[in-house]
Amino acid sequence: MTDKEAYTDAIDSTLAERREIETTVYQPAEDSALLANAIHEQGRGRLLEVGTGSGWVAVTTAEDVDAVTEVVASDINPHACRAAAQRAVSSDDTTTPISVVQGDLLTAFDTNSFETVAFNPPYLPTDPDAEWDDWMERALSGGPSGREVIESFIDSLSRVLVPDGIGLVIISSLTGYETVTRYIETAGFSYSVVIEESYPFETLSVLALRHQ
Ligand SMILES: C[S@@+](CC[C@H](N)C(=O)[O-])C[C@H]1O[C@@H](n2cnc3c(N)ncnc32)[C@H](O)[C@@H]1O
Repeated sequence: MTDKEAYTDAIDSTLAERREIETTVYQPAEDSALLANAIHEQGRGRLLEVGTGSGWVAVTTAEDVDAVTEVVASDINPHACRAAAQRAVSSDDTTTPISVVQGDLLTAFDTNSFETVAFNPPYLPTDPDAEWDDWMERALSGGPSGREVIESFIDSLSRVLVPDGIGLVIISSLTGYETVTRYIETAGFSYSVVIEESYPFETLSVLALRHQ
């Protein structure tokens, strides 16, 4: 069994259980493994993983995906950045450079700077009265619609991608698949489904976005 399969099998928790496991940094789960698998299929060149959390997707990519030549991992959460940096230092892979940057979505990055940008965004629709106002909330909540962070990401993706670059983003059925794909097309991207998996409470799709 590969590490990714082990993670997928081992972590079958409800969101409430995840909160009990970890309150500061999002730990790898089914969605993390889906994004890692999509990067394995389509990632290349200089890759940015936005919202890296524990850094597992970024470091797995650096270790396993030959087509990716450099990995930049970013997160708005300073605890996540520390965890990701620690994981990168502990990695056996010494050939693919990994750096960690704290920042809000894509604001810290230059125009035309990545061949691949990957994101497992916070996407749960959350009642404002039920917000916990902690780092796990930032990891899970996409605001009242579930789409607030995804839409901000899509708005600025075009700027940081090279012209033939690719964005890999996870969409949940809980977030409104058609609403998000319409937003993607309106922002000037075409999309295709790289991987799709159904779970008891949602279907997750990793979409590949390319400039139209
Ligand atoms: C669902 S978790 C995914 C973590 C990790 N990529 C994985 O797949 O295991 C979402 C991550 O996005 C980060 N995040 C939320 N809003 C962000 C923002 N505006 N800019 C950068 N990162 C953000 C959270 O802190 C969290 O680590």
